[in-house]
Amino acid sequence: MPLFAKKEETAVDYGQLPQHVAIIMDGNGRWAKARGLPRTAGHAAGAETFRTIATYCRDIGIRYLTVYAFSTENWKRPAEEVSAIMGLLKKYLLEAIEDMEKEKVRFVFFGDMAPLPDELRELARRTQRDSAKFDGCQVNICLNYGGRDEIVRAARTFAAACAMGAAKPEDLDEERFSGYLWSGGIPDPELIIRPGGEKRISNFLLWQSAYAEFYVTDVSWPDFTKEDLRKALAAYQGRQRRFGGI
Ligand code: IPE
Ligand code: IPE
Ligand code: MG
Repeated sequence: MPLFAKKEETAVDYGQLPQHVAIIMDGNGRWAKARGLPRTAGHAAGAETFRTIATYCRDIGIRYLTVYAFSTENWKRPAEEVSAIMGLLKKYLLEAIEDMEKEKVRFVFFGDMAPLPDELRELARRTQRDSAKFDGCQVNICLNYGGRDEIVRAARTFAAACAMGAAKPEDLDEERFSGYLWSGGIPDPELIIRPGGEKRISNFLLWQSAYAEFYVTDVSWPDFTKEDLRKALAAYQGRQRRFGGI
């Protein structure tokens, strides 16, 4: 196996990268608290990490990066924290629009945009529309996303097709069902990374994660570096994936 790495870097086989990496960007609040800062400072630092890691994924040739930015459950947080997160997302998207021609990343949003603040919803729509022409690296941003919500919506779409007489229940198989998800048409993630140390899925990509390799690190998202990503990729490359076989 040809390994390419600088001395101090974790060795990764860049010829055998996963096509699709997903990240639960967690630990922002605890990171801030440990530094005597408000939780929102952790979210701001996390946004910077996202910029660094997304660029790096693009540069090394990861085709799809899916990040969990805000869950359907995160509305339970204090209103000030929710609005600070929405503000940071707005700022991020404004910058992404500005840098789009240089960065050449395609952005796609997974989640129900309807409950978002108008301005943010419009920015998400614009970012997705204007970046659709890029085909190198696709970054899927999960915003007001829930895995269960996604599955229920897919079931509704199919039920509606049946009710109209356009489909029959027995027409439904896994492939067709996958097509109704936000992620329709893109391969399942081979690797899901969770910084922040929690060992749970928190309603992320429930359908798509069926056979994903899971990598948890105690490093919080604001501290997560390219080297931490290389560690995750190297761990993934050391796994034996059996998919139920032997
Ligand atoms: C993840 O960090 C960001 C969002 C959920 C929006 P947290 O805010 O959950 O950080 P911790 O888990 O409380 O440290
Ligand atoms: C998952 O993190 C959601 C995002 C990172 C956006 P949470 O912090 O919301 O997850 P729990 O509450 O610890 O399960
Ligand atoms: Mg958290």
